[in-house]
Amino acid sequence: MSILLIFDSAQPVYGVILVTAALIALFAYPLLASHGLRHIPGPPLAKLSNVWLSWLSRTSRINTILHEQHKKYGKVVRIAPNHVSIADPAALHAIYGHGSQALKSDFYQAFVQFGGTPSVFSTRSKEEHARKRKFVAHALSMRSVMEYEPTIAQYQRMLVEHWDRICSDAKKTSRGTVGTQSWYSKDGRAWLDIMHWLNFVAFDIIGDLVFGSGFGMVANGSDVVKIAKSQTAALESFDSDKHDLDTDEIPAVKVVLERGDHVATSAFSPAWFRPFLRFFPATNKGRRAMELFGNLAVTAIARRLLTSPDKVDLLSKMVEIKDDGGRTMDGRELAAEATTLLIAGSDTTSNSMCAIIFYLAKYQDIQSILQRELDDVLGSPSASEVYDDHDKVYDRIKNLPFLEAVINEGLRLQSTVGGDKVAMLKAFAPFQIGSRACLGRNLANMEMTMLLATLLHRYHFDLENPAQVLAIYEAIIRKPLECIVGVRRREEVEA
Ligand code: HEM
Repeated sequence: MSILLIFDSAQPVYGVILVTAALIALFAYPLLASHGLRHIPGPPLAKLSNVWLSWLSRTSRINTILHEQHKKYGKVVRIAPNHVSIADPAALHAIYGHGSQALKSDFYQAFVQFGGTPSVFSTRSKEEHARKRKFVAHALSMRSVMEYEPTIAQYQRMLVEHWDRICSDAKKTSRGTVGTQSWYSKDGRAWLDIMHWLNFVAFDIIGDLVFGSGFGMVANGSDVVKIAKSQTAALESFDSDKHDLDTDEIPAVKVVLERGDHVATSAFSPAWFRPFLRFFPATNKGRRAMELFGNLAVTAIARRLLTSPDKVDLLSKMVEIKDDGGRTMDGRELAAEATTLLIAGSDTTSNSMCAIIFYLAKYQDIQSILQRELDDVLGSPSASEVYDDHDKVYDRIKNLPFLEAVINEGLRLQSTVGGDKVAMLKAFAPFQIGSRACLGRNLANMEMTMLLATLLHRYHFDLENPAQVLAIYEAIIRKPLECIVGVRRREEVEA
């Protein structure tokens, strides 16, 4: 429908020629150019055209459907004319390992913003990647990450203060709200959607670590943040004296979700087709979200460049380093990295923590074992003084075997790698492997360990119905959209 709309005002004959050309490009070319993949099984439409994969990316069940295709067709499935999905642990090292010559495909071009400046995540060039990875790896090395512990502790403390108050209010009143977040009281517990709160805390932590200050999400119980109306004005303000930017308010977490949808649609479409997506009204919201998120990142950088933060952050670490030619990162490069870090470092950890707490609430016996392990190190759950001095806790909890096992199991369940234990361990690569493996692994592990230890030591979590299944929205990453659990202070449960 939308393709025809474009030609409304053009000569009909040009319309026919262009539609025919589009159909040839969509169907006949892929059919003729078999890419040497004709023998690989897969859904019939997928062999003919990218339409099947584009449809898949819009279903919000992408991993589930792919898994079904693998069960039907085997370990190797052709999911588009030039795209193969492989579900075989043996392929992991061949594709991603350090010796691999495989490059990222033009799938990643869909992530590029800021006038075509790619980030360490989206660049496809090996040389450019090596240069960028040096800057970001320095900022996220274990040594640097240890300096970020007080920032994590700061937001963790704010979250605990809110939840403590909610738990205590739930004993006196039937419902309440904090910012945009509501809760209700039932069976002596406060029932709340922990997904939103974990989003807020992860966003504030990464915002603070990247830009020197958070977005106020935990403090306000809301994801509404102020951003510059014009991305160009914000970018130009980096090197000028004009710092008064006109601002708008946006719901950042929602914008990230819509942005993710748009990137998925775009990335799964053939590169030549992407410029035409703008003619499809259904993509308007996603494109706008992409732009708004870019504005959010450049606004935060502009604000950060105006102040000299009293603590180290990722930006200051990134500009400490020079490449082999003696150059530091320029403004657009910094904006590209900041945006990547904000996306890569927020949803990923909050989704994983949310799934972990959900499963601990579902499997109460596992929750009890974990709580006993935490009590052994942190003392009785009523000893709340420990939460006033979190800066020193990480060293004590970083090697707890059961907590580590719970986190790994949560990452496995979130990334749906299955099978027997030996096969599972071979296939278990939540942070990927090789030269393009996750650069934020140290930070993610520290953040998840600190938050989960704190929350599980302090609160008991329940599900309203233990048979409940965690509903997951699947786009570029897998995201629980809602996770309502019953929360109460442990000292009360165990008294
Ligand atoms: C549980 C949390 C996390 C998981 C499961 C995770 C997983 C991954 C995976 C699978 C990749 C490879 C993606 C691809 O190439 O398509 C990746 C890349 C990346 N991640 Fe993470 N990540 C997490 C947290 C973080 C955090 C906290 C940060 C930083 C603040 C981060 C920064 C990055 C960066 C910069 C890359 C690109 C690396 C490159 O291409 O060289 N991640 N991550």
